Amino acid sequence: MTTPAWYKIGLVTDIPKRGARCLNTPLGRVAVFRTADDRVFAMEDRCPHKGGPLSQGIVHDRSVTCPLHNAVISLESGEMKGPDEGTVKTFAIRIDAQSQTIEISFDAVAAEPFVEAAE
Ligand code: FES
Repeated sequence: MTTPAWYKIGLVTDIPKRGARCLNTPLGRVAVFRTADDRVFAMEDRCPHKGGPLSQGIVHDRSVTCPLHNAVISLESGEMKGPDEGTVKTFAIRIDAQSQTIEISFDAVAAEPFVEAAE
């Protein structure tokens, strides 16, 4: 079993409350969301319904509403709550309590996994 690699992607305050930022990765675009209570979640920036950009959706509680057809997707599990079925791949996030630096893990991705956003 290998230890997952963690990559610094910026500070919590780099993401607007109830908003998102995007990372370009070999896995595709990844959206990193910040909730109103400063929780941070990451998932593919692609709605399982018809590929809508979830990073442009509306963040509410622990969910995001897709901007194209209003599907609600859990930021915690990636599961679509309706009107369709599907799941978005989520990625592990950890935050350094002192510096508020966000780190992400992509599990199976090797070196140079993404173009880091401006810090
Ligand atoms: S593309 Fe997201 S709900 Fe249709």
